[in-house]
Amino acid sequence: MNLPLEPGSYLLVLTGAGISAESGIPTFRDADGLWQGHSLEEVASPEGFARDPRTVWRFYAERRADLASAAPNAGHRALVEVEERLGDRFLLVTQNVDGLHTAAGSRRVVELHGNLMRSRCTGCDRWPFKDSTVYRPNGLPICGRCRAKGRNALLRPDVVWFGEPMPRDGMLRIQAFVDAAGPRLRYLAVGTSGVVYPAAAFVDAVRGRGGQTWLVNAELPANADSFDHVEIGPAGTLLPALLASPAAAAAAL
Ligand code: OAD
Repeated sequence: MNLPLEPGSYLLVLTGAGISAESGIPTFRDADGLWQGHSLEEVASPEGFARDPRTVWRFYAERRADLASAAPNAGHRALVEVEERLGDRFLLVTQNVDGLHTAAGSRRVVELHGNLMRSRCTGCDRWPFKDSTVYRPNGLPICGRCRAKGRNALLRPDVVWFGEPMPRDGMLRIQAFVDAAGPRLRYLAVGTSGVVYPAAAFVDAVRGRGGQTWLVNAELPANADSFDHVEIGPAGTLLPALLASPAAAAAAL
């Protein structure tokens, strides 16, 4: 199947952990609801961090180390190619914190859940900064700016945890894109289990505005019934065909 993008149409894409699975990054819910042996609440909530910051930091430091050997796959690259065709009529929203879309070359990206390779301070309004810190068993990372003022504020990964708000600028950007697209909006969700909001509700918002919706996933997700078109299989194989330019799709027949 090919996703038809008539002249003037807009494409909003949502990606989840499934698109990075073929890059070797484990998804969240595919293994008994555990994420690398931890409950999501333990390592992805402000309460978990307050209770045991060492476990949370060790966990994210390991995820940072995993990323060092991960590279974008054919699914990420197919999204770069379609963005090159559509320009500002394309927007990619990702729940992933791995940065692989940007590494592949995507430019119009909203990182809804933050970025694993950034940290921010829990005690001051210092801007989030690039950080590849690995775990130090005998110490927790402290904000250098706060320390200079005699305070001991912990750094934390710049990721959105359960119960925390989505980045406001990202949500506004999505809203502006959807408003500009109107009925010319096409929506594609890839590799997400459809249980984490607000992203899980995007499909209904698009359909409510008369937009067409597509899903690519390894299995039927929780919100599969909301989509007009469903393709089951690996994103790295399905996306290049689904998003091929009309000329490339015709040549492949
Ligand atoms: P999940 O792990 O919940 O879901 C991943 C989905 O991808 C599943 O439905 C898999 O079937 C599918 N999948 C696996 N391999 C695939 C492949 N090669 N091609 C296509 N699909 C594949 O991940 P998310 O839905 O992204 O949030 O999870 C959403 C959020 O929940 C995460 O961002 C994270 C987590 O808690 C926070 O940490 C705040």
